[in-house]
Amino acid sequence: MKISNLVSSLSLAAGALALPSMLDTRQQKDKFFTVHPAVNKSKCMGVLGGKVVVGAFVDVYDCNGSATQKWSWGAPSDIYALSQIYVVDTSGKKLCVDIPPLSGFPDAEKDIVNGAKLVLKNCKKQDDFAGMDFGRPTDPSANGAIKYSTWFVPDPEEGLFGQKCVDLTGGKTENKNVLQLWNCNEDYKKPWKNQIWSVTEV
Ligand SMILES: *[C@@H]1O[C@H](CO)[C@@H](O)[C@H](O)[C@H]1NC(C)=O
Ligand SMILES: *[C@@H]1O[C@H](CO)[C@@H](O)[C@H](O)[C@H]1NC(C)=O
Repeated sequence: MKISNLVSSLSLAAGALALPSMLDTRQQKDKFFTVHPAVNKSKCMGVLGGKVVVGAFVDVYDCNGSATQKWSWGAPSDIYALSQIYVVDTSGKKLCVDIPPLSGFPDAEKDIVNGAKLVLKNCKKQDDFAGMDFGRPTDPSANGAIKYSTWFVPDPEEGLFGQKCVDLTGGKTENKNVLQLWNCNEDYKKPWKNQIWSVTEV
């Protein structure tokens, strides 16, 4: 299924509103967090294979203090805004969480389906980050769910909503389990068990 990439006027409005606080953040030192599935807080969201490179999958693994388990996102004060979630490589470059493009299509064309795997990609520029946007894990309105907001127009036949949730695949906490997107619970106050995440500042 091919989904075309359209930035909504809502996202443009939100971007314009978010601009001042994003500028502020650049003058601050970024805060980093470990991100834990609620089903076992000894597990951390990490990078499969332990190397922060484009194309690496995002997994869960025993928390081990490695740089591949330290995540950050945009302005902490701007809690309701969408954000890119990033990890930093050994040279200090940020790579952002995203999903792979459709086979044979440009990077902006994605298959927003249940089971889409999370991967690292080059972060987009602030004025061009449609399609990599997650509700940050500390957003209180999401009750621990990390929502991936597509800005994509869903296929009407599929009946998709504009959001999916970051999901612990199969509910399995075993090391190297790659994280995926899956439908969120329609009751936003009650995220599915495998979609509840907590964060600890490191
Ligand atoms: C949680 O994960 C830790 C680290 O892998 C493990 O030792 C522990 O047994 C797990 N706890 C449960 C309840 O599965
Ligand atoms: C630490 O965790 C990452 C995954 O988050 C893993 O790839 C790496 O091998 C682990 N390092 C050690 C020393 O266990």
